[in-house]
Amino acid sequence: MLTKIQVARLDDIDRLGSRTVMIEDKEVAIFRLSDGSVHAVENRCPHKGGKLSEGMVCGSAVHCPLHDWKINLHSGRVQEPDHGAVTVYETEVDEATGAIYISL
Ligand code: FES
Repeated sequence: MLTKIQVARLDDIDRLGSRTVMIEDKEVAIFRLSDGSVHAVENRCPHKGGKLSEGMVCGSAVHCPLHDWKINLHSGRVQEPDHGAVTVYETEVDEATGAIYISL
């Protein structure tokens, strides 16, 4: 069964900003893109573990703060010519209350 966990509220995250939450034993980074959509991925770059929450959001990707790998926040995939992927978490926003949920 899918579990829904409230992780933040829309007001907590500026556009192009991020937040981190611990879910079970994983740190998850929640981003808000310029179109207002909310995306959540594992907060650990597949290269050398940089904290993606500290990276710059550009379009639908985040640039890792350590060596600038670009990670797509929709698919979790690293942009070529680099390789790898991070876990993507499904997010849901309750428009009425602004609550952000992650489904596990
Ligand atoms: S740790 Fe992210 S690009 Fe190297």
